Amino acid sequence: DLDKIETAKRKAAFRAVEDHFRSDMHFVGIGSGSTIVYGVEAIKAHLEKNPPPERHMNWFVPTGWNSRKVIEQAGLIPIAFDSLPGDAMLEVAFDGADEVDEELNCIKGGGACLFQEKLVACRSKKFVCIADYRKNQKRLLTNWPSIPIEVAPIAHASVLRELKLLGSPGAKLREHSMAKTGPVQTDQSFYIIDAPFKKLLSSLDVKNGADGSGKDGVWDVETLAKRIKEINGVLEVGLFYGMNGNEAQAVGLQGGQKPV
Ligand code: A5P
Repeated sequence: DLDKIETAKRKAAFRAVEDHFRSDMHFVGIGSGSTIVYGVEAIKAHLEKNPPPERHMNWFVPTGWNSRKVIEQAGLIPIAFDSLPGDAMLEVAFDGADEVDEELNCIKGGGACLFQEKLVACRSKKFVCIADYRKNQKRLLTNWPSIPIEVAPIAHASVLRELKLLGSPGAKLREHSMAKTGPVQTDQSFYIIDAPFKKLLSSLDVKNGADGSGKDGVWDVETLAKRIKEINGVLEVGLFYGMNGNEAQAVGLQGGQKPV
């Protein structure tokens, strides 16, 4: 029920911030969605309790219009991704997810943000994904039905065709449902296609000998993400994988810990 879910999101967010945020950080990524709002609340509370060293500035890198609003409304200071000093890495990026597997691969883009989130995540030393218990699954595409893909408007029909050939006959352009009609547009004024596939294998499955090459519609996360990204007109795929290179951590989802 709603209260239980909101409590879990907030708890996960406070826990993530407590474990991975410090007041002396310089650049911190802020993702999009409803969970990250609690993350920003937790950061604000942390900074009030533990003020940064004198003359130290904390800069927060937004991942879209909404994310920037959330940062500003909390009284924190945003810095655009393309204004970051050339060689600066973010110390950490916090974000939400639609589904997370046991290897900490994620599906993202349920809220139509994914391109900027991936840019920011890949420029961060650590990617902390805040996810409540509903999103914790052994394999991706268990509960969450499809992979969000951001595409150039002019190419959407040809991308749909390619996705169907790849084994996703149900791939669909995301459209507004209620009062507003027409395709949903991203912060880049691109479109979103939602492409259902069978449950995805992880790289552990592949190491253990499973075939994730797409034969019989069975893919592993990385192979499918790369294959989709190769399609002309695709800007980014809502599959985040292999983030362990920058020490991926999903709060409440690490081995041995109970999801919060
Ligand atoms: C936005 O498109 C996403 O990638 C979000 O991070 C994801 O959809 C999770 O959103 P909620 O926190 O609202 O569940």
